[in-house]
Amino acid sequence: MAEPFAGLKRTHMCNDLRAADIGADVTVMGWVHGRRNLGGLIFVDLRDRTGILQVAFNPGTDADALAKANSLRHEYVIAVRGRVAPRPEGMANASMPTGEIEIAARELFILNEADTPAFEIDDQVNASETLRLKYRYLDLRRPALQKTFMIRHRMYQIIRACLVENGFMEFETPFLTKSTPEGARDYLVPSRVEPGCFYALPQSPQLFKQILMIAGFDRYFQIVKCFRDEDLRADRQPEFTQVDMELSFVREEDIQAIVEQVMERLFRDILGVELTLPFQRLTWREAMDRFGLDAPDMRFGLELCDITGLVRDSSFKVFSDTLARGGVVKALTVKGGAALSRRELDELAEVARVHGATGLLWVKINPDGWQSPAAKFISDAEKAAIENAADAAPGDLVLMVSDAYATACNALGRVRLDCIRRLALEPASPYAFAWVTDFPLLEYDTEAQRYCAVHHPFTAPLEEDMGLLDSDPGRVRARAYDIVLNGSEIGGGSIRIHRPDMQEKIFGLLGIEPEEAQAKFGFLLEALRCGAPPHGGLALGLDRMVMLMSNQSSIRDVIAFPKTLKAACLMSQAPSAVDERQLGELHIRLAGEAAEEH
Ligand code: AMO
Repeated sequence: MAEPFAGLKRTHMCNDLRAADIGADVTVMGWVHGRRNLGGLIFVDLRDRTGILQVAFNPGTDADALAKANSLRHEYVIAVRGRVAPRPEGMANASMPTGEIEIAARELFILNEADTPAFEIDDQVNASETLRLKYRYLDLRRPALQKTFMIRHRMYQIIRACLVENGFMEFETPFLTKSTPEGARDYLVPSRVEPGCFYALPQSPQLFKQILMIAGFDRYFQIVKCFRDEDLRADRQPEFTQVDMELSFVREEDIQAIVEQVMERLFRDILGVELTLPFQRLTWREAMDRFGLDAPDMRFGLELCDITGLVRDSSFKVFSDTLARGGVVKALTVKGGAALSRRELDELAEVARVHGATGLLWVKINPDGWQSPAAKFISDAEKAAIENAADAAPGDLVLMVSDAYATACNALGRVRLDCIRRLALEPASPYAFAWVTDFPLLEYDTEAQRYCAVHHPFTAPLEEDMGLLDSDPGRVRARAYDIVLNGSEIGGGSIRIHRPDMQEKIFGLLGIEPEEAQAKFGFLLEALRCGAPPHGGLALGLDRMVMLMSNQSSIRDVIAFPKTLKAACLMSQAPSAVDERQLGELHIRLAGEAAEEH
């Protein structure tokens, strides 16, 4: 039965106590992590967010306390008064920080009872993710998650301190706002007072932060939730956190230097790792050429090479057809890869196909020559040239994709990652940061038959490519940059357009008619006409950074209350139906299937 809490005052957290405290009278509180009854001697493992402490009830303990200790069950909430004592000879536990001591209990208070938990509060327990998310409060009690959220908490503090030292001011911008295009669908909120009108939850505070620059605040930051209705993956959530920043009177390198400083501080203070600054920089084109992806995992070598020039006159149809269409042939050498089985090669080919390639050509370089489905179609001279360019030797595997440039790079880039995982290659360093710069400004959307912005429509074109804006917009590069860590895009930003005529021109290239531009972004265009300073910024994906720094493979393990891949919260059961009256107030009537299900 639960007992009153009044009058009890906690003196220590569980992990505060050590041998130096022996003899001290203490009051500790927490959850029953485990209980062992050794014939009249009862041991309770008491857990709080700092760790676990052993409490001993021996036959000399007050009979009432002993009886209560006997009734304790997992996850009961208790308070214990007692004295810090050394553990008996030979009973110390070196694997526990508090393993040299225990609390010789005098009094026990049961503050609350608990149902048998749906799963054991232990990092080793393999409960399904569905169960863990349903009982998130139990899951969050597990030491690994407590540690992750402590890291996350420290990251907020370090980032804030570092940015404030650099002259940034913290702001809040609205959640009930107008759509800002970041490439995903909006979450909409209906207006009650304006029938038929909707707010959009921000995909990012992009326009507000630019307007704060126009308002003269010079350096802005915000640790802020963003909302995007997009297909979810292991590193994507519908609501996620950005460390969002914007600066006036700066160039790319000024912004990058501040972000590098933030990273240096985070890695030093949290992981004790000294990063080498500045981070490597490579252009988007170089990233694609060498690694096949715009977020290259540079912990590993294993670079792609282009063999288009070597097979230009090849009679092999796979090559000649691609070249006739203006495509390329990319190759990747996997050292020692000739040992891969046929099944593994089929699996690699499937990876290439899933990522858009028509196929993956493999060659095992055996001591007696090529073993490959393509061996007999490729001349000896071509074989020698390919081996030479791809730096392949007997025992190696050469993988090739012949396709349009973007498809060949992307497919072979994914195959590269699969090989790294499959062969469990050792990284050259545990953390590889890189800045990827000079992204294309626009990409052509064949379905919509118009250009769309690669980063967002407010990104400035590279000065030297301005001349191409009218003649060949697809070739214009942007003053955009991403920061990549271990193959994961952890942030992105750009120098913005600060002149209204240029902003109007870019809207035009994106197929946004002047009236539409006025309706959607009129306030921005007007603000740009009122003295906008040159400015730029970046947003870091905080959740992805926590994932990498706490070594978690799922973004759901670093967000306190995450959503499933279907964007549901299994604990609170959101989203859920609402009643007719509420819908009526919002001027909404359900249609079709939604109406039937309701
Ligand atoms: P961007 O769209 O590149 O830029 O977003 C910045 C960073 O946010 C993270 N991120 C996500 N993390 C988890 N789940 C998601 N669904 C998700 N989407 C993005 C990524 C990404 O690098 N307004 C611009 C920034 C700017 O130009 O200043 C923006 O939002 O790590």
